[in-house]
Amino acid sequence: MKRTTPGSTPANHDTTALNRARQDFSGVESVWLFGYGSLIYKVDFPYIERKPATIRGWSRRLWQGSHDHRGTFEHPGRVATLVPEQDALCTGIAYRVTPATFAHLDHREKNGYLRFTMTLDFADGQSAEGIVYIACAGNAAWLGPANEAEIARHVATAAGPSGSNRDYVLKLARALRELGADDRHVFAVEAELRGMQGAA
Ligand code: SIN
Repeated sequence: MKRTTPGSTPANHDTTALNRARQDFSGVESVWLFGYGSLIYKVDFPYIERKPATIRGWSRRLWQGSHDHRGTFEHPGRVATLVPEQDALCTGIAYRVTPATFAHLDHREKNGYLRFTMTLDFADGQSAEGIVYIACAGNAAWLGPANEAEIARHVATAAGPSGSNRDYVLKLARALRELGADDRHVFAVEAELRGMQGAA
């Protein structure tokens, strides 16, 4: 599998065609996919095997705009992407999928995300190369950093075809807790959301 390293920034929102050309899966029966956001808890694709995994050097941040799932073009939601951070560990779920599954995944992750190849570390000490969808800084749907209170205020008002942005964050926080992942950023946004008047 050709290795791809983060850095490029697509000029338009729809990265489907770019992603199709990024890795050559010919002759490959299965590929590991690492999910760190909605791919942890919304599993709408077939998989052969799944297990918790971590990647090193990346932190989860709610800095990517969502125009197609948890927001609209007029009012994008905020969803997860990864930003480089030395020695950081990001916990998620790895799925072993067939190459055909990427047609669905590329469509689902089309709003600025590009496929990258990374090393996934499993709890049993093994590791493997896998695909990770990352929305890089400066992509067309990028919203960028803000403090957790601001992010929560934004999230509280956004919704799109996949549901409310608030629901995205609460589901992600619950899934991370179930995984035993300590994610200060996501948990802080969750706490802000829960602290808002009328929040459950
Ligand atoms: C992922 O879950 O790995 C990508 C970001 C998302 O769909 O929330």
